[in-house]
Amino acid sequence: MDINNKTVVITGGAQGLGLAMATEMAKQGANLALIDMQEDVLAEAKSELAQFNTEVKTYVANVSQESDVENVFNAIVNDFGGISVLINNAGILRDGLLLKAKDGQVIDKMSLSQFQSVIDVNLTGVFLCGREAAVKMVEAGNGGVIINMSSVARAGNMGQTNYSAAKSGVVAMTTSWAKELGRFGIRVGAIAPGVIRTKMTDAMKPEAKERLVKMKPVGRLGEAQEIAHTAKYIIENDFFTGRVVEIDGGIRL
Ligand SMILES: NC(=O)c1ccc[n+]([C@@H]2O[C@H](COP(=O)([O-])OP(=O)(O)OC[C@H]3O[C@@H](n4cnc5c(N)ncnc54)[C@H](O)[C@@H]3O)[C@@H](O)[C@H]2O)c1
Repeated sequence: MDINNKTVVITGGAQGLGLAMATEMAKQGANLALIDMQEDVLAEAKSELAQFNTEVKTYVANVSQESDVENVFNAIVNDFGGISVLINNAGILRDGLLLKAKDGQVIDKMSLSQFQSVIDVNLTGVFLCGREAAVKMVEAGNGGVIINMSSVARAGNMGQTNYSAAKSGVVAMTTSWAKELGRFGIRVGAIAPGVIRTKMTDAMKPEAKERLVKMKPVGRLGEAQEIAHTAKYIIENDFFTGRVVEIDGGIRL
């Protein structure tokens, strides 16, 4: 797909990987609908993207709330006339061990709310936005592309029961949707980044980050631009669907 003059929706588009992908898409001439919960950061992103002279609109919504998501996709279609690409990027981390034990006694365990909060945003949010984007794409009859953001942690990672479960589920939804939506001309792909330098990774414990860098054959964290480049590849390559691109510097957790 050539995205010049098409509409690209990016969730969690206010900062980090979402903003890097928005920048790459704007460079290609795409119009942007950025969804995020942070109104002020969205406004900063919008002014940063103004240099590319494409249309940029921002929408404050929580991707885990069904009514928010339905309303925002209706608003985007009203504003832009249709949706060509959705990048399901909004995500959170709430890391913690399943349990902590001392001298044979369990002293702490991951709460249901800690587990559920990540599932709500990283899995249910992807489901809701993917579903609504697909509804709009099928109704318009012009096909489209959906990209879901997974992670290297989808294989299972210590301290990330909630995050790994969600990111693995995202890949399963990607394959399912590719099979279901192919007949409507909709392609669905996933990106599984390794550790990329963003605010999210800045919040990680330094020793955990150091351990990850040491595990990477390329010997460094990834750059957001390298993820944006991958999203561009999935959009442009019309033979790509139902697969996950691992862009992780060769790391295996
Ligand atoms: N940075 C990495 O190293 C890395 C690695 C693998 C996967 N990922 C994934 O890439 C995506 C982006 O990561 P990032 O590092 O840019 O994170 P980030 O925290 O910098 O940005 C995430 C954005 O999502 C928004 N958001 C969070 N919850 C939301 C909600 N309920 N509704 C709407 N917006 C919401 C936040 O406000 C924020 O702007 C995430 O899905 C993350 O899991 C990141």
